[in-house]
Parts: sequence; structure tokens; C-alpha cells
Amino acid sequence: MSTILSVYNLGKNYVSAGRNLTVLHDVTFSVEERSMVSIVGPSGSGKTTLLGLCAGLDRASKGSIELNGVSLNGLNEDARARIRNQYTGFIFQNFQLLPTLTALENVLVPLELRGLKNVRPKALDLLDKVGLADRSHHYPVQLSGGEQQRVAIARAFSNDPRILFADEPTGNLDTTTSERIIRLIFDLNREMGTTLIMVTHDMELAARTGRVIRMRGGSIYSDEPMVS
Ligand SMILES: Nc1ncnc2c1ncn2[C@@H]1O[C@H](COP(=O)(O)OP(=O)(O)O)[C@@H](O)[C@H]1O
Ligand SMILES: [Mg+2]
Repeated sequence: MSTILSVYNLGKNYVSAGRNLTVLHDVTFSVEERSMVSIVGPSGSGKTTLLGLCAGLDRASKGSIELNGVSLNGLNEDARARIRNQYTGFIFQNFQLLPTLTALENVLVPLELRGLKNVRPKALDLLDKVGLADRSHHYPVQLSGGEQQRVAIARAFSNDPRILFADEPTGNLDTTTSERIIRLIFDLNREMGTTLIMVTHDMELAARTGRVIRMRGGSIYSDEPMVS
């Protein structure tokens, strides 16, 4: 197997109200291609910050990240945006669909950013896969939370990401809807051969991935394979 993500001595500081706050300290780990990894830990332990740095949404204060063989170190926002579009999909807890675009248009965004043509059939096929073929012209406000997250999943997979980041993807959904969303993410992940890195509060859910990384106070304190 080959490594798709290498994180070495990663650190992140924020300056707020004139004070320097270190929210990640010396985080080191790597992830094999096509594997599924959960990140768990208390609120404020740095999970979202870590995921955002790995996906190139933000810049590290120190250390290094290599994503699919490309170093993110020192890249500016434009360069990181290109890498994100080329290699990653991201699913947020609060869906983050663009409210002025329909479901179909939201799914088309990553494809159009790539400058691809004739992408509607692909986007419609993805909406069909997530069970929303008949809602393609609906706006986010016309969809339930679970439906919005399914659109977000279709969007995240639209550019055939090598690696999918999901930050508490079921955190705003009821139990039944959560299970449906998780099955969808796991199934698409397997079908498309994507690597999955998922933050969750739910230990039962974490145990369904092959490996659990536990964080506390901005550091990793355990990193174990799950035996099932
Ligand atoms: N933009 C920011 N400016 C200042 N502090 C931040 C910022 N983003 C996050 N933090 C702080 O970093 C710490 C880790 O946050 P986060 O990564 O969101 O944790 P988690 O996802 O584990 O709940 C928290 O103490 C949070 O308040
Ligand atoms: Mg978080």
C-alpha cells in the first residue's frame, strides 16, 4: 500500500486578543491509500483545525503536510485551492451548501472549477446515487438536513477525490438519518476507492473504521488499528 497523506510535526497557532494560542502541537501521522481513519477527542482538542490543515483549507504554523505526493508547505491560497479541487472532497457538519444554488448546481461547482465541460450527466448520476435524483432543482432551504448532507456528499465525490475529509458529518442529524448518511459515505468510499478521514464524537462509529486516532489538547495521544 502507498501513503496518501503524511503529516510531520504539525503545529498551528492562532493569535487572538494579542495572545498566542497553540492549538496543535507536533502532530505526526500518515495514512495509507484507500484506508478509513477516524479522529476522536473532546471539543476544542484541535480535530477541525487538523482536518482543515490536511485538506489545505488553512496554513500550518510549523511542520509539514504531503498530500498525494504534493507538499502543502508554503503554498498560497490559490495553489492550495487547486490542490484541494484536484485531490480532496470535504463534508462539513453543517453541510455548507451554497444557498443561492440548486442541489444540482452545488454538485457542479467542483467540476466547473476544474473547467470541465458536459458535467451535468455526472452530477445527476451522483444525485441519483445519493437518492436525490428528483430533487436536483431544489434549493438547500427546500431540503431537510439529511437531504442537504446527501447533496454535500454528492458534491464532495464529484471531482473523484483521492481523499475525503468529513468533519462530524452526522453531528447535526437524527440517529436514523445519521446511519443512512454514514452508509452512503462508506459505500461511495469503497466503490470509488477513496481514502476517508472522518472526525466524529461517536465511538461506535469510529470503531467501524479501520483505525482510530485520539486527540487531546492539540496532540495525538493514541493511534490504534481497530480489530473487528
Ligand atoms: N480562528 C481561530 N482563532 C482562534 N482560535 C481558534 C480558531 N479556530 C479554532 N480555534 C481554537 O482552537 C482550538 C481547537 O479548535 P477545533 O480545531 O475547532 O477543535 P475541535 O474540532 O476538536 O472541537 C479551540 O480552542 C478553538 O477555540
Ligand atoms: Mg470540530
